[in-house]
Amino acid sequence: RTINTDATRVDKAGYKHFMAKEIAEQPTVLADALRAYLDGNTIVLPDTLPDFAKIDRLTMVACGTAFYACLTAKYWFEQLAQLPVEVDIASEFRYREPPITARTVALFVSQSGETADTLAALRYCKGKADSIVSVVNVAESSIARESDVALPIHAGVEVGVASTKAFTCQLNTLLLLALHAAVQRGVMSHDELADKLGELRALPGLFNVALDRDPTMADAAHKIAEARDVLFLGRGLMYPLALEGALKLKEISYIHAEAYASGELKHGPIALIDKNVPVIVMAPRDALFEKTVSNMQEVMARGGKVCLITDAAGAEAAGADVWRTVILPAVDPILSPLLYALPAQLIAYHAAIAKGTDVDQPRNLAKSVTVE
Ligand code: G6P
Repeated sequence: RTINTDATRVDKAGYKHFMAKEIAEQPTVLADALRAYLDGNTIVLPDTLPDFAKIDRLTMVACGTAFYACLTAKYWFEQLAQLPVEVDIASEFRYREPPITARTVALFVSQSGETADTLAALRYCKGKADSIVSVVNVAESSIARESDVALPIHAGVEVGVASTKAFTCQLNTLLLLALHAAVQRGVMSHDELADKLGELRALPGLFNVALDRDPTMADAAHKIAEARDVLFLGRGLMYPLALEGALKLKEISYIHAEAYASGELKHGPIALIDKNVPVIVMAPRDALFEKTVSNMQEVMARGGKVCLITDAAGAEAAGADVWRTVILPAVDPILSPLLYALPAQLIAYHAAIAKGTDVDQPRNLAKSVTVE
């Protein structure tokens, strides 16, 4: 059984596709989501949330795009809150019989709140974990109802099968939760939190700048659409995003796309590189940038075409041999997964347009998967 979202309640508002509309509305949607969670420099969360200072571990479980949101959040919870995190795909987790201790918080992320495997994983954790928390878009969903605490992502109805605004809103909610945990665990001061929230409030404006890069991305995507295989590379927080970029591209353009952590390039995928394989590199000029540049050079030395998504400082440092460069505004490194999600979505969208596929209803896929 698959559930059709209430597409009848929303229209395309003049856009050709729901996906285009849902990508474009992200500045407004993120601003609204932030307003829902912030009161000055306080993150407003339910009192029923567990005390993060009293737990040892966070176990995060999801499917598809929501799984990549969890992988991103692992970096945040570990780096900002010093909380060990395990992330798993629901269909693997539910049958592996993983030990869950009473000092574990189990966190489930799901746009629909109805994904069968995620719901089964949640039920497995009941009575074992300290508490069950979910991050959902549909507040009245099964996953929300069966959780001790359900945090809404405030994305509004998402119709496009390929998740876009729900992904950035999942990231936003998870980041706020990680910041809350960081303060609760005594790892982050209130002043540091205020700084981060200030940066986060500026993000919807930067989203608009990223959307303005649409023509550059459309141009690159039309070339990328000619390829049979595409590789995405990223390090640190950009690694889960590379995975999400590859998923978006294959979902709607049917081009074979794979993502690797940049450091893994030499352990296999470099054998695939030739002039026919575009390599999309997500790399803001952060602490890991130099290492990514050297991976990029290995690609270019083998004739690979690099499409670099970076900021102005990164573009300058990368040199002239890069095939295409998309320049985004500089942003606090912890926020880069949210900002860099937009070019990943737009490249997939334009590649699908070039291929002439059904962007909003890609073949073989469903918006909500309520069967195994
Ligand atoms: C389906 C959708 C994906 C989504 C995944 C998980 O495969 O096509 O876009 O990421 O399910 O869905 P959920 O509703 O649990 O986030």
